[in-house]
Amino acid sequence: MKKTFLILGSVLTLALVFGTSCRRDKTQTALEYMPNMYRGPAFEAYTSNPNFSDGLSARKPVEGTIAKGYIPYEFSNSQVGYDSARVYLKSSWEGRSLTTEEMEVLMQESKELYTIFCSHCHGEKGDGNGILVQREKILGVPSYSTERLPDITEGSIYHVIMHGKGIMGSHASQLNYDERWKIVQYVLKLRSEISPKTETVVVEEQTNPEV
Ligand code: HEC
Repeated sequence: MKKTFLILGSVLTLALVFGTSCRRDKTQTALEYMPNMYRGPAFEAYTSNPNFSDGLSARKPVEGTIAKGYIPYEFSNSQVGYDSARVYLKSSWEGRSLTTEEMEVLMQESKELYTIFCSHCHGEKGDGNGILVQREKILGVPSYSTERLPDITEGSIYHVIMHGKGIMGSHASQLNYDERWKIVQYVLKLRSEISPKTETVVVEEQTNPEV
């Protein structure tokens, strides 16, 4: 007798569960026993939200928010921006005392970056004779030498990587802050190697200067 009740009870329970959970209308969800498992109380990013006057769920970051790892660049893409960067923008390496080993690693990385991003136009030596220039795909690429570009500084080189110049496009999106400064270091190295050496005039100190 007990057994019959047990079987009957189980059959009824199962019938109840399946009977209520399966609806005919396939466009509607069936009865959910644990709704929070599927539908969190949070608003979805692109659904409307009555809690805000503009009705948007996806909120904009607070004004002035800076993305993690992003370093803002204040010099504008104009002649004024170029001139200011040339004078005031200083390398991120300034003030850092690097050991010889660290310097070697830095230069190796800088060379790799330069080779990938700049050498096809500017040439491996920085003489403005990259493969694209040799094949006449692009013209007017300057050598980095002091003769050809007497006024460039680390600041102006960084600025040109950020904003481009003439037909050279911006490389800002392809390189991060550190990588850009590494390339600047390498450009300066090439510049010193290809520039004609200026003789330093040594003025002998006069022991008894005539007044
Ligand atoms: C598509 C070819 C091309 C690539 C790639 C390129 N450049 Fe240039 N670059 C040029 C041209 C052309 C100029 C001359 C622009 C002008 O003065 O109108 C120039 C100019 C420069 C100057 C001199 C700007 C000045 O102040 O007069 C620097 C410095 C420079 N490039 C650095 C770089 C660095 C660093 C890279 C790699 C991140 C790079 N370039 C990648 C074509 C290129």
